[in-house]
Formats: sequence, structure tokens, C-alpha cells
Amino acid sequence: MANQLGLLMLAGALATHGIGVLFLQQVGALVHPIALSQVLERHAIAHVIANELPPTRAASLLAALDPGVLRVWTASDAEVAPHRMQAEELKLAAALRARLSLAAGTPVWVQIERIDGGPARDTVLALRNWAALQVRISIGLADGRWLNSWQHPSGGYEWWRLLRFSLPVSILPVLVLGYVFVRRIVRPVRALVDATERVGRGEHVDALPVTGPREARELTVAFDAMQHKLHRFVQDRTRMLAAIGHDFRTPITSLRLQAALIDDEPLREDMVETLADLRTMVEETLDFARDDAAREATRPIDLHALLQAVARRYREVGDRLVVQPWQPPQGSAPPVFRGRPAALRRAVSNLIDNALRHGGTARVSLSTGVLGDDVAHRIDIDDDGPGLAPERLDQVFEPFWRGSDARGSGQGLGLGLSIARTCVQAHGGDVVLANRPDGGLRASIHLPA
Ligand SMILES: Nc1ncnc2c1ncn2[C@@H]1O[C@H](COP(=O)(O)OP(=O)(O)OP(=O)(O)O)[C@@H](O)[C@H]1O
Ligand SMILES: [Mg+2]
Repeated sequence: MANQLGLLMLAGALATHGIGVLFLQQVGALVHPIALSQVLERHAIAHVIANELPPTRAASLLAALDPGVLRVWTASDAEVAPHRMQAEELKLAAALRARLSLAAGTPVWVQIERIDGGPARDTVLALRNWAALQVRISIGLADGRWLNSWQHPSGGYEWWRLLRFSLPVSILPVLVLGYVFVRRIVRPVRALVDATERVGRGEHVDALPVTGPREARELTVAFDAMQHKLHRFVQDRTRMLAAIGHDFRTPITSLRLQAALIDDEPLREDMVETLADLRTMVEETLDFARDDAAREATRPIDLHALLQAVARRYREVGDRLVVQPWQPPQGSAPPVFRGRPAALRRAVSNLIDNALRHGGTARVSLSTGVLGDDVAHRIDIDDDGPGLAPERLDQVFEPFWRGSDARGSGQGLGLGLSIARTCVQAHGGDVVLANRPDGGLRASIHLPA
């Protein structure tokens, strides 16, 4: 944003100067005022010489007047033919009349043109506008001869002279001031971007300083309010979950006591089993609510080390679990992710549990780099089980959803996937399931940078 605004200002300043120069080219004076006064002074002297001295003497003195850009001579013919003079030519002719105190009716012809004979002022963009000027003058003398002159005066508003002065003088202050203001605007926006990223991965961000222009200040205040509400909402939800879980424990315990009194043995065992299930569900919910409430702080996590640590807990499953070594892609950074290690370990463990329980084996691999939209790290957990019907791939994330096709020892609660997804989403990522082409399921944890 700062760069774009800087470029915009630079382009604006250049355009203004360009337009200004073109405008002056069209309406500014053609001949510089100093050059004009020189023309007048030299002609005043030349006029006296031509009028007062004999022609031969006058000729040598007039030649001596030439500094290299002026030629003055007397002749029987006028150098400048009568023509319709332009405004600037008329002005010079009038000035000459006044300076030389010419008698009324004395002919004075002035012609300002390009040295190649072209018009002094052409259309704005004509290249010949940049060619040097010449001024030719013929003044009638008392004896019927003419005082002719040719000179090459300095131009009035030559574009390169104008730009050489005006560009540094105007653009530098504009850029310096612009830089200061753009920084003032951009700084709070930058801080908001950083804060939004951190909130996205579940961190709590301290109230941001309210600085900068009004819009940026309002945005900062709105952001802080939103974060505050979000935080309160999550806390309320967690507290409610914990309260419900807690209150369920007492009735379940009393039901268990009552069930023990039932005489019908198969019915009694059925009920005790169902109540045990119910109790585990409540415990799991409470566990989750507790973990969520005691949000651990985020810190940089070496994902590779985290996977190794998780794998160590599964020592008893032997070679049914394989953690593939991480292969750093060329020039990539180490797989460090800022997050909450316990929550991530929980997500990975739940997916490994599923692979082992429903698929028999688990192969864990880690990839890093640019892996898709906002995915910088991916942990894949592959198994060789039956996979899932395509319409189930989303459904299985619902809490307490269990497949009837779940095989292996012992039924779960149907909470593993939903907890894993909650943990990963709190980091700004997601858990994605897909059937592998060569059979089995792949559960992937996607994490942002
Ligand atoms: N790797 C897998 N292969 C096949 N089916 C799976 C796999 N992972 C999950 N499922 C299906 O998704 C359902 C939900 O999984 P989820 O992890 O949420 O619950 P669970 O494993 O049954 O119980 P727990 O709460 O103990 O994890 C499972 O019951 C199973 O049917
Ligand atoms: Mg599970």
C-alpha cells in the first residue's frame, strides 16, 4: 500500500509538471525577458550609429556590436518582408519604437521564428517547438535605407530548464511529506493484519494502540470489540459445556445404583453398560471443555519433533504405526508452526487412533512448503482400512457420529474427529478426509504458515 501510494504521488507530480510545461509551451513568453532587453539596447546603439555615421564607418562599428549571436547591417532592402505580425512580434515592435523614439510612420518589421524558418509556436506536441529561435528585425531609416538585424536570443521557457528546477524543488517535499503520512496510515493497518492472523490461529491479542487517521482508529476499536466478544462467546460456551457435563454425572451415578437393583440379569447388564457409555461420553466432554478453558499459550512448535513425541506414546502398537522421516524440500524453512502443542498432539493422536482402530495401520508423514491456499504444513495419516463412503466424509465429523462399519476392538464415542477438527480449526487450519486411490483413508491436518 505504501509503495502504491508513493508511486501514485510521483505519477501525479510528474503529470502536473508535464501539463504545466506543455501549457507554458503554448502560452508562455517565447523570448526570455533579459534577451528582449538586450535586443532593445543593441538596437538603440545600432540605430544611432546607422543614422549618425557615414555608411562605411557605420558598417565596421555595427560589425563590432556582434557578440556571436547578433548581426546588424544597413541595406537598401528590408530583411524582413511586410507580414501580419503576431502578438509577441507586435509587442517587440512597439517596444523598439518607444526605445528608439522613432517618428510615427517609421516602418518596423519584427519576425520571431525557428532557425529552420518554421513557426515559433506550433501545436503543443510538435517536435520543432524544441528547436532554437531566431529574431529578425528591419527598421526603416530616415534616408530610405533599412537597419536590418538577425539574432538568436535565449528562449523564454525552455522545458528542460523549467523541469530541472521545478522537479526537485516540488517533488522532493511532496515525497517526504507523503512518506510521513503514508506511514501514519499504513502502520495501524499493518498491526491489524498481524493481529487478525494471530486471532485466526486462536491467540488472544492485547488491545491494539488506537493511532493513525480516523478510519484506522475506528477499525482498531471495532477489531478490539470483536475480539472481546469472540473471547466471551467462546468462554460462555465452554462454561456451559462444563456445567452440563458436570450436572449429568450425579443422575448417572444414581441411575447406576438403581440399575443394580434390577432382578432381570440381561436387562441389568445392558443398562449398566449403557450407563457406563454415557458416563464416558460425559467425561470426554468435560475433558475437552477443561482443555479448551485452560487454553495453553501458543509457541513455536517443531512439527517433526511433535510427531516423533506422539509416536513414542504408541510404542505398544509396534510396526502398525510408522512415522515417515521429514524430507526438507529444497531451500524450505524448518517445519516450525506457532500453535498450542497439547491441542495439536491431541488432534494427531485422535487421527492415529482412528487409523489404527478403523484401518488397522497408520502411516504418518509431514510435508511443508506452499501446499495450497493458506496451507504451509500438512500432516497426513494414511491407513489401509476400508476407507469411507464419499457421502460419509463430512458426516463423520459430527460429534457422537459412529460408523456401524467401525471394525476392530471396542467402539469409540464418535468424538475423536470432531475434537481433532476443533483443535486444528482453532489454529486457522482444517482436517480433511479423503479415500486414497490405492485403498484406505487419508486424514490430513492442514496448517497455515
Ligand atoms: N480411518 C478411518 N477409516 C474408516 N472409518 C473411519 C476412519 N476414521 C473415522 N472413521 C469413521 O468415522 C467415525 C467417527 O470417527 P471418530 O473418530 O469421530 O469417532 P470414533 O473413532 O468412532 O470414536 P472416538 O471418539 O473414540 O474417536 C468412526 O466411528 C468411523 O466409522
Ligand atoms: Mg476416533
